[in-house]
Amino acid sequence: MRLLRARDSDEFAQLSALVVTTRLEAKRTLAITLPTGSTPLPLYERLRREHAAGRFSLDRASVFMLDEYVDLGNYPKGSFHAALQQHLGPVIFNSHTTFHAMRPGADPAFCAAYDAALDEVGGLDLAIVGVGRNGHVGFNEPGTSFHARTHVVRLTEDTLNANFPATDDVERPTRAVTMGLADLWRARSVLMLVHGDKQWVARLLADETVVAEVPATQLLTHPDLSIVVDEPLLRGAMVSDASAILGHD
Ligand code: GLP
Repeated sequence: MRLLRARDSDEFAQLSALVVTTRLEAKRTLAITLPTGSTPLPLYERLRREHAAGRFSLDRASVFMLDEYVDLGNYPKGSFHAALQQHLGPVIFNSHTTFHAMRPGADPAFCAAYDAALDEVGGLDLAIVGVGRNGHVGFNEPGTSFHARTHVVRLTEDTLNANFPATDDVERPTRAVTMGLADLWRARSVLMLVHGDKQWVARLLADETVVAEVPATQLLTHPDLSIVVDEPLLRGAMVSDASAILGHD
């Protein structure tokens, strides 16, 4: 595991982008999954800028959504699909990049088809994941089986409180669909991004402590895991430097 400390959002984006570009240089037809939430936004802004300048492209890549709400209720916050469109629009929604959407309304038949599409490309080359405040990755909530593939989940109270602050007269979603831990672990490389109010998870990750109930820590056993973390979450933990991303560690 490489633990990369980011002193600010520029460095967060720079270190994360370095992982993406080195994996892409190794394989242009990268199969990749991309998270949403606030954590990856500095990375996406950087990739969007590099794309506009002609220095980065996911042409020939296959992009798989990581997760999505199944029922959005009437909460005034959009789908993850809309978020990817907003933050990475031209980079992934173009005629050269294959995009595998997860749409609201996903059911078991959808999940089986999604797994078949993942199998068809030989699994992911790069899984980029964020971490929830309760340690989830994608919507693999605490306690999810390590062998899970794409499945529909009932959202926990913790996740609803983190993602959908209670508001009068507004219904929060109750379910989501997510790629499973099995496919994330099967990815050739994993890039985990940790930002925000998640010190307890950052600490477990930095100490390489696997806790069966905390999905993010289950990925610690992955042979090619890079973790980019906000510096204040680490408090003196041992970290790698950027050369580790390039495989010189
Ligand atoms: C959601 C998503 C995750 C994401 C997490 C963290 O629950 N299901 O894929 O990683 O939020 O969000 P944030 O980056 O905003 O902290």
